[in-house]
Amino acid sequence: MKDSGETKSTDLYQRARAVLPGGVSRNTVLFDGPPIYVDHGKGCRVTDVDGVERIDFANNMASHIHGHAFPPIIAAVTEQLQRGTAFTMATEAEVRFAEHLCGRSANFDKIRFVNSGTEAVMAGMKAARAFTGRAKIAKTEGSYHGAYDYAEVSQAPGPQNWGEIAEPRAVPLAEGTPPGLVDDMVILPFNDAEKAIAVLDKHKDEIACVLLDPIPHRIGMVPVTPAYVTALRDWTTANNALLMFDEVITVRSEVGGMQARFDIRPDLTSLGKMIGGGFPVGALAGSDEVMGVFEQDSQGLRLPLSGTFSANPVTMTAGYVAMSLFDEESVRRLNKLGGYARTNLAEVIKSADVPACVTGTGSLFRLHLKADAPGNYREAYMSAGEKLAMNRLILALYSDGIMMIHTASAALSTAMGNTEIDRLSDAMHGALLSIKGILNDPV
Ligand SMILES: Cc1ncc(COP(=O)(O)O)c(C=O)c1O
Repeated sequence: MKDSGETKSTDLYQRARAVLPGGVSRNTVLFDGPPIYVDHGKGCRVTDVDGVERIDFANNMASHIHGHAFPPIIAAVTEQLQRGTAFTMATEAEVRFAEHLCGRSANFDKIRFVNSGTEAVMAGMKAARAFTGRAKIAKTEGSYHGAYDYAEVSQAPGPQNWGEIAEPRAVPLAEGTPPGLVDDMVILPFNDAEKAIAVLDKHKDEIACVLLDPIPHRIGMVPVTPAYVTALRDWTTANNALLMFDEVITVRSEVGGMQARFDIRPDLTSLGKMIGGGFPVGALAGSDEVMGVFEQDSQGLRLPLSGTFSANPVTMTAGYVAMSLFDEESVRRLNKLGGYARTNLAEVIKSADVPACVTGTGSLFRLHLKADAPGNYREAYMSAGEKLAMNRLILALYSDGIMMIHTASAALSTAMGNTEIDRLSDAMHGALLSIKGILNDPV
């Protein structure tokens, strides 16, 4: 984040650069220069080390469903801290939390806890491979599923390498990704059932699972269509492959996750972020049959999976409190608030008279500096000019006391109400006007 003079944040960044590569532990916090360092958060507000307070619409990348320092979580975790944080033993806390999560969806017969969404997706891919005996995983172009090598393929391709839309190329993210690994990924066009099925048909008998985020943020935060979901479910069933939903973010959409809105049953679901109540978490839920790969049975143990901090009682306690208090009424209220935000922002865009639009559903939304809502990753892809304008927009919002995910995306928390949405709308109006010149004259 650019800053005119010396601040505590710029001082800290100087120190950080000497000991952390790029000055950070996660690239997410880097934005247009030094990051801003936080002092504390309370509810939906965060105060930085220089004393500036902002309304937090990012919520640690959609992971705090009740905002910061939520008193019921503080109380429960404080009690657990006195009793120990992690053991080489099982705990009642994990059983209680598993019972709660499995009770939220008829699709979750069993659940396995891990420490991050990345791990949950990784466990899901490995489970699908162990269950089917096949190697290939299909995913939609541009979707983000964490930092596992396979999941990263075609996470961020560009016009120079993404190939034909009818059959997107599998593009590695990191230098040095083994080519064999890339060959095991099949990339599907998003929300185009006919094209996606045509790609899948070329890999019949090879696909272990199709992985799908039902509201993929990087594809534009446009919900997946029922027709697309049904086509993928039908194809996977007919071809003995599995269907896995990645609901690391979208589990907030309904009590049983976004999948509750479709008339299908995925075999596996990866969960993370908000289910940890503010602590590191991931989980893989699924049918009894598929989750059986983690069990010792007559076939042996098909997929051993351990993690030193998996299901630690601090996370299990915080997660249980967070999710128990995110009940049907809370979900409904927050989704309604999301609708209020989308309507208000659409009005703001109209009144500012700029080429922009809003996508999203439930408590998630994203503002695009494009006149029309993108339908897939290629349409959501930002040109250099759009990126520049987006950076300016985020900086203008920061200066006006608003913090969003750097794509102008938001994940609401129960600590928010109409007042915070009205503040966002006001700030957005000013921010859009401030970049109007660049929008009308793109580089
Ligand atoms: C859909 C999705 N899957 C997986 C992940 C990875 O989760 P984590 O950052 O906890 O590893 C993310 C993180 O943003 C995500 O959005």
